[in-house]
Amino acid sequence: MLGFGRKDWDDAAYARQMREACDRFSEEPSTDSEWTSFGRRLAYVRGDFLDAQAYRSLAQRLPDLDRRWRTEGNRMFFLATLPSLYAGIAERLGAAGLVNRDTEGPFTRLMIEKPFGHDLTSAQTLNDALHRVFREEQIFRIDHYLGKETVQNLLVLRFANSVFETLWNRRHIDQVQITASETFGVENRGAYYEESGVLRDMVQNHLLQLLALIAMEPPLSFQADDVRDHKVEVLRALRPLSGKDALDNVVLGQYGPSADGVMPGYRQEPGVAPDSVTPTYAALRVFVDNWRWQGVPFYLRTGKRLARGCVEVMIQFKAVPHCLFGDAQACERIEPNRLVICLQPGESIQFHFGAKTPGTVLSVDPVRMHFGFRETHPDGTLSPYQRLVLGALRDDASLFARADGVEAAWRFVTPILEAFETSPPDDFPDYAAGSEGPLEAELLLRRDRQAWRPLSD
Ligand code: BG6
Repeated sequence: MLGFGRKDWDDAAYARQMREACDRFSEEPSTDSEWTSFGRRLAYVRGDFLDAQAYRSLAQRLPDLDRRWRTEGNRMFFLATLPSLYAGIAERLGAAGLVNRDTEGPFTRLMIEKPFGHDLTSAQTLNDALHRVFREEQIFRIDHYLGKETVQNLLVLRFANSVFETLWNRRHIDQVQITASETFGVENRGAYYEESGVLRDMVQNHLLQLLALIAMEPPLSFQADDVRDHKVEVLRALRPLSGKDALDNVVLGQYGPSADGVMPGYRQEPGVAPDSVTPTYAALRVFVDNWRWQGVPFYLRTGKRLARGCVEVMIQFKAVPHCLFGDAQACERIEPNRLVICLQPGESIQFHFGAKTPGTVLSVDPVRMHFGFRETHPDGTLSPYQRLVLGALRDDASLFARADGVEAAWRFVTPILEAFETSPPDDFPDYAAGSEGPLEAELLLRRDRQAWRPLSD
């Protein structure tokens, strides 16, 4: 592994920094012997990201490392840099002869992290710039949500179990709720977050990716492009929300200080303007206009500094058409079946159904079947980044965002951003840190005579 950056380090200093970082951040600190074996494979080249000469130094150093590590000219560039530098770095890598575009010979791959642009136009510009140097198949765009074990489990649940697929459509599903609720605030990322806000930070990528996995058609195979083709179809089928439709179907919010004054409001966070109108919460009412999903609302919500930290997908099936058990009151207690997929924490899948209450009166109680991922697999699993880096090394792009998918997501989100830029909310902050979020988000569902389902425990 070779580090490339502006710090004035040599190989040894770089290796020391890496060891410190590993000891600090990894779940299992490495032993001295593990580190000796790994540390000697670390090298460093100093250079400015936009200086063409630095890339020539990099190019001179690599053949020697290829010989030592028997890497045969195969390269994967991971840009842990400001996203504004992606295009410039790709161009310079190409100009220095460091990119093999051919399918023959040693491979060259590029890994980058979101944000991939900040709206549709900038995403297209970035994709064009990357494609001038790399083929699309060489680019691995990380959405770390896709590396989560339980996110992959969504696909297994759907396509390895025939019982669900039969019910997975508008005839049987009443609504879908997708929640990514966080208890922490923007911490020390205020400056980044001011530019991004919740729609760019969470909705354009993570939430829409979850929606696409839930709503996609069965792919022909698990090959990257078969999966991604179907995910993109879902994103393209999202009913557009612009102007008044966006304002009517999307609620944005921003946290203020907690009721007890202990947690600061967003506007008090470092790097945030005291009159900022950047949203930290979003709730959306979304429709997928295709045969399978016509008329089924997908309610999405995500926010920072909320009461619960939880990522969850709730599929609610239609209610029984006619109640046989008891009077009107007893019938109201019969809840529709729900499949609740908790992605974190405590990954689990639960099926909620009605069972008879013990006793002489025939009435129904809500009960649930529970599958706990950790209980079944106590040894744990790979972290999202371990899974993604391995995926890219193995040339498996199924867990990475493709250019057309990124653009389709921006095509949906950009008009929403524009609608709120034209009519910025004037009631921020509108929810207290540590609360359930803005009241408006409740009202959005109440219009459909629905409510957010309580998150599972
Ligand atoms: C990141 C966002 O992409 O995902 C953060 O920038 C967010 O704002 C984070 O907190 C959530 O990821 P995880 O894996 O902690 O749920």
